[in-house]
Amino acid sequence: MNGPTALNEVSPARATTHFNRPARLLHWGMALAIFTMLFIGIGMVASLSLRPILVSLHRPLGIAILLLVNVRLFNRLWRRPPSLPADLPSAQILAAKASHWLLYVLMFAMPLIGWSMVSASGFPVVMFGGFALPPIAPHDATVYAVLRAAHTWLALLLFVTVLMHLAAALFHAWVRRDGVFAGMARGPRVGGQSARGGMDESGEPPPPM
Ligand code: HEM
Repeated sequence: MNGPTALNEVSPARATTHFNRPARLLHWGMALAIFTMLFIGIGMVASLSLRPILVSLHRPLGIAILLLVNVRLFNRLWRRPPSLPADLPSAQILAAKASHWLLYVLMFAMPLIGWSMVSASGFPVVMFGGFALPPIAPHDATVYAVLRAAHTWLALLLFVTVLMHLAAALFHAWVRRDGVFAGMARGPRVGGQSARGGMDESGEPPPPM
């Protein structure tokens, strides 16, 4: 355990260069799940014929995202993440930190709002095979209307934030080539040295070349 850390602290000394394996698995698995959810959500409201099957996928996948983001936040706060490159402009550091926090907020908010919204509609929050979650909001038309609008607008915000996150990741990978993308894309190479020159997952600094 390393103790809690702020998201993306910039501390070049004794920094790790790669996210740990659980963080990488959760990142790519949840990226796929969230992208899928956004398109399932749009499909649900756009196609009457596909709606039943898409709704039956949307609810359990959304609740799976809610469960996984708890694990992910725990891992994120207790295992030291790689530090950002020391030469990254402060505006980009701020944008990275703010967008990462926003993504965490939305990963919690979207499933919780979806669950509350179905609760407020008065219908059971069915997951699969007749198993239903308990309602977490009162059966109320006004509450439903507010949550329904919030689910749409926050989905749009999530989509835009994910696209900006993707653009920033590719900027690091293809333009700056500073090792930030590699820190999430793969584990540390034994005997290799990162573009950021920090330690690998084991906590050891890279060996001299
Ligand atoms: C990360 C999680 C989630 C994402 C990204 C997401 C995304 C979306 C999107 C993009 C839409 C279409 C919105 C529109 O066009 O107005 C939608 C609709 C919907 N979502 Fe979610 N959702 C999530 C979680 C959930 C959960 C957990 C539930 C319920 C347990 C849920 C229930 C619904 C329902 C019922 C609709 C359609 C409402 C209607 O047709 O009137 N969502 N969702």
